[in-house]
Amino acid sequence: MSFLDLSGRTSVVTGGSRGIGAAAAMELARAGSAIAIFDLDGDEASHAAAAIERETGRKARGYAVDVRKSVLLAGMCDAVAQDFGGIDHLVNNAGVQFVAPVADFPDDKWEFVTSINLDGVFYATKAVWPHMVARKRGRIVNIASVHGLVASPYKPAYVAAKHGVIGLTRASALEGAELGITVNAVCPGAVMTDLIRGQAAQLVQSYGGKLTEDEALARAFLEAMPTKTFIDPQEVGQLCAYLCTDAARSITGTPIAIDGGWSAH
Ligand SMILES: NC(=O)c1ccc[n+]([C@@H]2O[C@H](COP(=O)([O-])OP(=O)(O)OC[C@H]3O[C@@H](n4cnc5c(N)ncnc54)[C@H](O)[C@@H]3O)[C@@H](O)[C@H]2O)c1
Repeated sequence: MSFLDLSGRTSVVTGGSRGIGAAAAMELARAGSAIAIFDLDGDEASHAAAAIERETGRKARGYAVDVRKSVLLAGMCDAVAQDFGGIDHLVNNAGVQFVAPVADFPDDKWEFVTSINLDGVFYATKAVWPHMVARKRGRIVNIASVHGLVASPYKPAYVAAKHGVIGLTRASALEGAELGITVNAVCPGAVMTDLIRGQAAQLVQSYGGKLTEDEALARAFLEAMPTKTFIDPQEVGQLCAYLCTDAARSITGTPIAIDGGWSAH
């Protein structure tokens, strides 16, 4: 049996309809886990789940869940545990970005970014916790960012929220340690997804309006990454799957960079 065998397990992936979350859900299913995708749009979540079920033959379902809604999240986790027979893994992946200089950063965008990227991680952790305690085993993988370790200009809310995720990771790992629950933060550098593509126009403006969108993306992301190559979502998904195995039981409370060397300088 491979050390990567997750058969008989159930994984909840927030923001799993596309990008890194979809890749994590797919890799967990390839390792044998059943999958519950929580995302804003229930149809998109169900569509992503159906693709996983088709490719892997593992049970996968999609649900409309906004991670900012604590009560809804808790109810949905209870429903998934009932339907799937428990919850073993949570990948806290849902996240958004907004880019603007700190002096012009709108208050409502601060609230938007921090409520999804930090509060949502807390709410989902709280919602799955009793299910993992019941099983005396659990894996929580928080998709933080290299911006949980270092800062970049024009991303104050994102950098603050992602640093907060690493603090929450450490705090919950200490509580989970004797309960068989590990909690880790995965810190990707630039992964080519909609979240990155969506920043292009704002970055062009922030750099004074003279660069093309591709030049602005390269300046914002690839200059800082020694490998000078965007990361594939699947690489991050495979790391998430590994962290959910029994082989990773002694890895807890730690930020793990997958950032092409970004945080090494
Ligand atoms: N792309 C990168 O370079 C990169 C780097 C480091 C960290 N990250 C982090 O990885 C995670 C995924 O990013 P991505 O690049 O795949 O983004 P993406 O925009 O491609 O996907 C994000 C997903 O989250 C969902 N989502 C947004 N708000 C939500 C909410 N309130 N409730 C539930 N779901 C919600 C979206 O609908 C979408 O499916 C984020 O936490 C992001 O901060 C991304």
